[in-house]
Amino acid sequence: MQRLVPDPGATSVADQLESYRPWHDPPAGRPRVALNFASTLDGRAAIEGRSGKIGSDTDTAMLVGLRQRFDAVMIGAGTMRVEKYGRMIGDPARRERREELGLPGDPLVVIVGSLDLPWDAPLFTDGGGQVLLISAEPEDEPPATATPVEVVREPDGRVDVTVALRRLREEHGVRALLCEGGPHLHSQLQAEGVADELFLTIAPKLVGAGSTILEGALPEVAELELGWLLREDSELFARYLRR
Ligand SMILES: NC(=O)c1ccc[n+]([C@@H]2O[C@H](COP(=O)([O-])OP(=O)(O)OC[C@H]3O[C@@H](n4cnc5c(N)ncnc54)[C@H](OP(=O)(O)O)[C@@H]3O)[C@@H](O)[C@H]2O)c1
Repeated sequence: MQRLVPDPGATSVADQLESYRPWHDPPAGRPRVALNFASTLDGRAAIEGRSGKIGSDTDTAMLVGLRQRFDAVMIGAGTMRVEKYGRMIGDPARRERREELGLPGDPLVVIVGSLDLPWDAPLFTDGGGQVLLISAEPEDEPPATATPVEVVREPDGRVDVTVALRRLREEHGVRALLCEGGPHLHSQLQAEGVADELFLTIAPKLVGAGSTILEGALPEVAELELGWLLREDSELFARYLRR
């Protein structure tokens, strides 16, 4: 892998993330928030309805490497329904490494949305880690799961992501949050001005249809600046920071 910006030269995913400490100096009253997406050249966020075919193995390495450096990982219910996540950090050695860094072995998994979820997904049946479901549905109860699931209910029919972030910081001690999408949840974080960073893999593929990485109009244009740009073969890995 080559680093194109800044300081061009040879690098690797591990080297790039080695000194990355997003849990240091979070903003007041909320976690630092980073988004991670993979996109095709025509800006699509899914191939045949899922994200897995967009990026290469190096994209997966970046995803796993990023997960290793956050207190919590957030996804929307739509993404959970399609992607049927397993345990976020499956490798025990990686959980140990997190603990050495002063992070919980498993990141807290935060799901935003209804209880219409694939309860047979390994995330729920594995038993490792902890899930926090932030739901706007007042009554439903989740089924019994091997992995502990705490449900937080928002009374107004919709989760206010700014309020949710404040609670994650105050009540769950989350200093750094990685949001892996999807596009509707992403648009809310951008609209609220709380998306501090965007890790974007740009895959050399064209699809021609499907949702983009951000679905939902923003009240104003979000201005970002390039933090780094990496290249492996024809795939680009960008890190953008909100100005
Ligand atoms: N390329 C990538 O990097 C990437 C990453 C992630 C996802 N994806 C793709 O994106 C697609 C899924 O898109 P999506 O837009 O459905 O995903 P999403 O943003 O993860 O999920 C949307 C759902 O999340 C819940 N939700 C979001 N904000 C909410 C709020 N403020 N209050 C209450 N509920 C809220 C709602 O769930 P309920 O419907 O349960 O109420 C809503 O329908 C899939 O094809 C997936 O593969 C791609």
